[in-house]
Amino acid sequence: MKLTEEQKKRIEELLSQMTLEEKIGQMNQESPSIVGGFDVPFEELIEMMTDGRISKEEFGRIMADAKQDYHEDDIRKGLVGSLMVQDPVKVNELQKIAIEESRLGIPIIFGLDVIHGFRSVYPIAIAEAGSFDTDLMERTAAMAAKESRAAGVAWHFAPMVDVARDARWGRVSEGPGEDPYLGSQFARAKIRGLQNDQSSPENYVAACLKHYVGYGACESGRDYNTVSMAMHVFYNNYLKPFEAAVDEGACTVMAAFNDLNGKPCTVNKFLLRDILKDSLGFPGFVVSDANAIRECIVHGACEDDMDAGIQAAQAGMDMDMGTEIYVKNLKEAVESGKLSMEVIDEAVRRILSVKMWLGLFDHPYVTEEAMKRYETLPVEHTDLAREAAEKSIVLLKNEGNILPLDKNAKISLVGSLADNKEEIIGAWAMSWQEKDCVTILDGMKEEFPNVRYFECGGPEGDLNMNEILAAGDYGDVIVAVLGELVSMSGEASSKADITIPGRQRELLEMLLTTGRPVVLVLMNGRPLALSWESQFVPAIVEGWHLGIQMGPAVAHVLSGAVNPEGRLSSSFPAMTGQCPVYYNHPNTGRPGSKSKFTSRYLDAPLGALYPFGYGLSYTTFEYSDLQVKETEDTVEACIKVKNTGDRSGKETVQFYMQDVAASLVRPVKEMKGFEKISLEAGEEKTVSFSLAKKDMGFYDNERTYRLEDGKFRIFIGKSSVDCLMQEIEVQF
Ligand code: NOJ
Repeated sequence: MKLTEEQKKRIEELLSQMTLEEKIGQMNQESPSIVGGFDVPFEELIEMMTDGRISKEEFGRIMADAKQDYHEDDIRKGLVGSLMVQDPVKVNELQKIAIEESRLGIPIIFGLDVIHGFRSVYPIAIAEAGSFDTDLMERTAAMAAKESRAAGVAWHFAPMVDVARDARWGRVSEGPGEDPYLGSQFARAKIRGLQNDQSSPENYVAACLKHYVGYGACESGRDYNTVSMAMHVFYNNYLKPFEAAVDEGACTVMAAFNDLNGKPCTVNKFLLRDILKDSLGFPGFVVSDANAIRECIVHGACEDDMDAGIQAAQAGMDMDMGTEIYVKNLKEAVESGKLSMEVIDEAVRRILSVKMWLGLFDHPYVTEEAMKRYETLPVEHTDLAREAAEKSIVLLKNEGNILPLDKNAKISLVGSLADNKEEIIGAWAMSWQEKDCVTILDGMKEEFPNVRYFECGGPEGDLNMNEILAAGDYGDVIVAVLGELVSMSGEASSKADITIPGRQRELLEMLLTTGRPVVLVLMNGRPLALSWESQFVPAIVEGWHLGIQMGPAVAHVLSGAVNPEGRLSSSFPAMTGQCPVYYNHPNTGRPGSKSKFTSRYLDAPLGALYPFGYGLSYTTFEYSDLQVKETEDTVEACIKVKNTGDRSGKETVQFYMQDVAASLVRPVKEMKGFEKISLEAGEEKTVSFSLAKKDMGFYDNERTYRLEDGKFRIFIGKSSVDCLMQEIEVQF
């Protein structure tokens, strides 16, 4: 976030002219509040929808008529620094008030949850990370930046880079999975995509890294729950993607809801000031999560609003999302000497710097031309959405090479999810994005002339026996699209049972008894426990929630027009009770094995059913001749990879290491690199990795980085469990 001397001067001049109220106003983020138009309080209305007293559609209708307060008076008084709005006309209207009617004319920064696309919706992050294609991750972010900036949204509350290892947590869908290395590559790619094209203010936005930090380790996968962990685990895993993204230039950060080892992140000076701002040198501003400052009182960390506001500001929380605690309390706190003016000035300087860097002072409005630019989605955007969706699909099982399907086969397409636009766009998507969605049914009709749809059942509700029988009668093959509704993953959607929900397993059993081969296409926002399905269903395709082009992408993979290349960014347990299950766990003195007194469950398999990095192709790859050598500054490794099948394909070659004996127990494997290669049938390539010795160390509990001589294992292979290995002695 580079500013010119001129820009820095402008910020200082502004600061010197601002009153204390105006400064605190910059630290305040509002969203439009619902102020009426219905008979019950807004909170109750939400509850009514959640418990089914009113339908989602009815809620939508009520909201459309509801009266909203956009805080115009406060904007005029300079008391609003940021707002969550997505309508460009409204953005311009409110911005005009800020620029022309407030005393100093400081522009508002409009922010929004643009998590995996704005106009065009891409795969959810857990899926896209599995493409192992950082160029793709960057391009989808860059496209989302352009689309949202054309609507006046200059700040994305993304990327979410929480390392997440417990599939019960609904928010695993929003982030890049269980691995800190892949997570860091994803984080860097997203920052580059969102922020780097500064050729025009219309091309970039401010990213917001979230949720800082440790949220993905919420106890038992229950959302918002407490987080306790050893500090070496924290530094070597959960902090890593944040560190990488700050290094890449991320200019805002959102603090997490949870406490870390007893202190809520929102008021955690150690995390916000000592680590983020002082040690990592983060130059931008930190925003709280929604209502989080007030929730510190419920946490039991603060006495009241005043105490929460002071603790948060002192800890380094620059902007308050949604509570108005700052605007209502910090003036008194400063005037009574409880909070120093330096804290306020620092926060405001950071906020104004981001606004200046975004070009908002000189280009505060959305032009008419920009507003119209994406009325119809340009074909490059749809193409990118399809490419991303295709690359994120993971083939989990393909017994007897049922897949790909013959184009002229009679296909019975089953499952309510197959004919649904809402469910393919994933958590955080908005209803207006549905108009560009192509369902699986529509995608299949384009690719297969003889497809027929039989709804039969879905994640909720009953099964339709007649349709099940008809599906069995018609198809040479049955494609069953089953899984989770969007509402079953994402925020506040933790689950204690992560098998396929509702009566869908029963549906699968019935489909299998028709005697037709069954292909299961999964739509879901988290790893599912697929023990039963993996035994009885011959082919399984992991389709996640893939965005607007999910339909064509799935159809292309099923027909073989696209050879699947996605890999799992998160391990899939066989059974829910194994959660959290992740490949890079530390060893125990009794690693799980067949013998009784080892670290295992009596009633579950050892390890994941489908591990991190796993994924099949319509061709096969063989690895041979692993060679490893030490140089002065690096460990060099190479391996031969051959396409032994009869069609071209893409392979993600994965590189891991293990520090065999160290002063703190290290993971059984840690990813250190990956490379995606294309191989024609029969082709062989040598793939090389160079691991800098400086990257082979780890942090101890005091955050001292340690490089310890000794034995290392180097692994290269096709997944976290399927590798060739060589040992090497390394001196640092
Ligand atoms: C709560 C969520 O935790 C966060 O991810 C989101 O950005 C904010 N609300 C704003 O909607």
